[in-house]
Amino acid sequence: MDTLTPSTLEAAARTFAARHATGELVAAFVAGSGISLAAPGWEKAAEIPYAEVFPFPVAELPGHTPTVTLWRKRTRGLLVFNGRFHLYQGYGAAQVAAIPRLAGLLGAPVYVATNASGSIDPAVSAGSLVVVRDHINLQATSPLLGEWGRWRAPMFPDLTDAYDPALRAAAAESARAAGFAVSEGVYVGTLGPNYETPAEIEAFRRMGGTVVGMSTVQEVIAARHLGLRVLVLSLATNMAAGIGGLPLTHQEVLEVGEAARGRLLGLLERVVAGLEAKTA
Ligand code: HPA
Repeated sequence: MDTLTPSTLEAAARTFAARHATGELVAAFVAGSGISLAAPGWEKAAEIPYAEVFPFPVAELPGHTPTVTLWRKRTRGLLVFNGRFHLYQGYGAAQVAAIPRLAGLLGAPVYVATNASGSIDPAVSAGSLVVVRDHINLQATSPLLGEWGRWRAPMFPDLTDAYDPALRAAAAESARAAGFAVSEGVYVGTLGPNYETPAEIEAFRRMGGTVVGMSTVQEVIAARHLGLRVLVLSLATNMAAGIGGLPLTHQEVLEVGEAARGRLLGLLERVVAGLEAKTA
């Protein structure tokens, strides 16, 4: 399934740029399904189904067409990707990384990702927002395999401070201003789609993990390879296996996600305002 090549993605980016005037992009956002970011004060210039953007078959959930929204304000633009590609859906690493790479090719300087996760740390309760400061990639793959590593230098990118310290500080400050606390933590990326065993979670805790999820790390590696600054906000929707003593259900993940969505959106809006002010 993983047939995406650099030249195919570059052609897709050229097509996108020819069809849609993005303006000077301030940032690209990617939200897990269910979270859609409205940008107050910005005008919705286009809403484009993924099937028209990405040069590979896009799986659609019943009743849900993933789209990218282009927001414009005067000379500036904002891309919001509503829904992401996961390895557990059968996409290859290069396809999973197509969103940040497209954003980078279109000129976005910043990549902001949100995701849902399970908390490994008893001090991080379900419903908390975590600003990701680092990751542990347990997905056993990389978006830089094969020709993607040769596509751009460096083939061996440094991932120190992959999660931009200034953006992390700005996100924490925005959360404080909005009246809630966030903590920083390490995101452990697993393949999924099964949740983890309690023994795995105990191992991840000893390794230094704070939250665990099935997305995002491939995107971050690709974004850093292209030089985008990265911010990741993780919503801990549940205590990970064995931590809360309760079995995990997808329903719980969805319900807590729904309840915390307002806070996450409020935080994202402040992050956008901060980025806008910086690029003014
Ligand atoms: N584990 C992995 N991914 C997740 C979890 C979890 O507990 N919760 C939400 N996404």
